Order: sequence, then C-alpha cells, then structure tokens
Amino acid sequence: MTTFRADELTRLRADTPGCQHVIHLNHAGASLMPAPVLEAIRSHLESEARMGGYEAEADAADQLDDTYAAVAELLGGHRDEVALVENQTRAWDMAFYGVDLQPGDRVLTSHAEYSSQYFALLDRARRTGATVEVIPDDVYGELSLDAFADAMDEHVRVVSVVHAPTFGGLVNPAAEAGAIVREHPRALYFLDATQSAGQLPLDVEAIGCDVLAATGRKFLRGPRGTGFLWVRRERMDEIAPAFPDLGGAVWDSADAYRLAPTARRYETWETYVAGRVGLGVAVRYALDVGVERIAARIGELVRGLTERLTSIEGVEIQDTGRARSGIVTFTVVDATPEEVKDAARIAGINVYTIDLPDARLAFEPRGLPSVVRSSLHYFNTEEELERFGAVVASLAHR
Ligand SMILES: Cc1ncc(COP(=O)(O)O)c(C=O)c1O
Repeated sequence: MTTFRADELTRLRADTPGCQHVIHLNHAGASLMPAPVLEAIRSHLESEARMGGYEAEADAADQLDDTYAAVAELLGGHRDEVALVENQTRAWDMAFYGVDLQPGDRVLTSHAEYSSQYFALLDRARRTGATVEVIPDDVYGELSLDAFADAMDEHVRVVSVVHAPTFGGLVNPAAEAGAIVREHPRALYFLDATQSAGQLPLDVEAIGCDVLAATGRKFLRGPRGTGFLWVRRERMDEIAPAFPDLGGAVWDSADAYRLAPTARRYETWETYVAGRVGLGVAVRYALDVGVERIAARIGELVRGLTERLTSIEGVEIQDTGRARSGIVTFTVVDATPEEVKDAARIAGINVYTIDLPDARLAFEPRGLPSVVRSSLHYFNTEEELERFGAVVASLAHR
C-alpha cells in the first residue's frame, strides 16, 4: 500500500526544484525547500530591497503572524507560546539558560542527547552546582522508561529528551517519558523535536513537555537559519530568558524592563525576517500535505531501503530502537562512510556521515566510529532508493 497516489507524488516533486537536480537523501541535514517557500523568501527579500527592511516587515505583518499560528497548529499549542529563533540550538538555549538551576539540582538526559545541548548541560552544571545524569537505554536502544522513572525525584529540575536523534533512526518514547515527568511537578520537560518536526505528528499536550524546540530546515523543509521554541504558558514565569532583548521586553524605566507575557520574551528584535516568512509557508505546506501521511510514507520508504541495504553482503544497518524515523544509518565492510558519501555524491546522491564526536554518548559504548546517514522524506521515490542501493552495492562488492 502506498500512502500517496502517483500523480500526487509527481506534483509534489514538480513543486520541489531540487528534485530535478539531485537525489536528496539528506533531509536530516537540510531538506529541499518546496517552490512556495522559496518564492515567499525571494519575494520578501525583493520587498526589502525595494521598500526598505523595516517597511517590508510591516508590510508582511499578516504573513509573519501566520508563522506563529502555523507553528502552534503543528504542535497543538497556543500561538502565544511560540517564539521564533534562528535555529533549534539557540531556541533550546534561550529556555534552558533561563531555568534557575541551584546546587544539588539534577538534570537528566539520555544517550540520544545532541552535542550542543550536552555542552549546555555541562556548562550550566559547572556554573551552578547542578549535576547531569545520563539515563541508560533499554535493550532496544531507546531511552529506558524504567531507569528514567527510577531516577526521578524532587531534585530533578530539568529532563532533556531528544525525540529523534541526529545519528540514527531511533524514536524515543516522548509521551511515555512525559507521563513520568508529570508526576514530579518541579521538573521541567525539554523535548528536542529537531528531527521529528515535519515528519512525525507532534502534540505537546499528548507528549506533556514544557519546552519544545525545533529547526526549520530539516523535515519541515523551511529555510536555513530558522527555528522555533514552544514554552508551556503555565511554566513560562519559571523560565526568564538569559538574554533579555528589545524583541521580547519593554524598557519601562531607568532601572527596569518588563518581559513580554508571551513566548516573544525569548526572541531577539533583529532577525531573518524573510526566513520567518518562509518558515510559516513551510509549516503550512507540511500541514497541507498532512503530517500523519508524511510519517506513513516515510515509514514505507525506510522499510524498503532498510531491506534493500540488509540484502547487500558487507552492509550493516546501525539503527536502534523499535519505532523508526526517516533516518537509515549503516556501515559497509570495505568502504568508510566518507567513501560511501563521496561515491554517492558522484552519482548525484546526497547523503551524510555521522562521526563519534557528533554522537559520543550513543556511539562510544558501541565502539562505533562513524556511519553513513541517509535520511528519506515523503517525496523521495523507490527508484531513487534503488539507485542509492546500487551505489552502496558497488562499494560493498569491490
Ligand atoms: C537531534 C538534533 N538536535 C538539535 C540539532 C540542532 O539544530 P540546529 O542546527 O537547528 O541548531 C540537530 C541538528 O542537526 C539535531 O539533529
């Protein structure tokens, strides 16, 4: 069964200029923007050039407003809980550095933690006297819910969960983790949805997170240099932005400023306005295609590619977890991941490599130095995956 009719796929691909030039299997890096996103950005840049940047921004007020509404719709949250930030890392930092960590506070994370976020956890632990603890995985390589529940107590202030990591096809049980965190009212649940936004349905109420951060350029197919932060209204006053900015605060008197009552408090005044417009169009595009259908189609493609690669002697799939995202990682006995990436590039196929320093907590215990990361989106085709499989087979059988 296929989740998209052939004519719909043809239309969606025709709406994606990059499809004419490349077989793109690097959506977990940055996907290919659809034409309406490209057009919205181009048109805003032209307005800026024609009428001036501030004036173009005022002119685009409705479009910019819709970006908040679209992100809120994507997440099942409220538009006042959404801040637009230049990437996921800074979005996440704006909230994390705003938590008033105290000596003795505990911060829980997992083996799926993203490098920059882990740096922030270590940095803040050093500065505040809080501790960082890495919760073990279960036998499938997912965050162990048992170990996680055992670790929870009233000293846990922050729980950091990566929904779908950068290094493999794993999807962590975000909602099940949320149910555990909810039993500990002092804990703030941070969810990194960078790799899941745009490919898996997200519902902040069902997940039970307090903070969610994601990026525009990956499975949402938005422009680079865009991202967003969602912070639950009821917890916002516990999270004052570490860097108050005119974009999210009012200068009331010589010795006081007042934070915006909404998530705008986490924003900066100066920003990539064309990108924000493009992000809104990208989120609407994903909502129009339908995130549930996107997830189903990606699942079909991932199963197909995994089977194809598994059938090649000398290829080893490196993904863990039961639920799978759009990422398929593997190693080839007689070729380094870099060689596979280069050979694919020569064949007009984009894939990426993930190395130990990108995924230290996950790869070190497995003794895994590097993998090839292919990442699939709904508008990839079976024929494209066949071509990729042939490139891999030619390297495995040298
Ligand atoms: C799981 C995960 N978290 C966070 C990030 C950081 O996102 P950004 O580059 O938008 O800051 C990435 C980027 O690859 C990622 O894969």
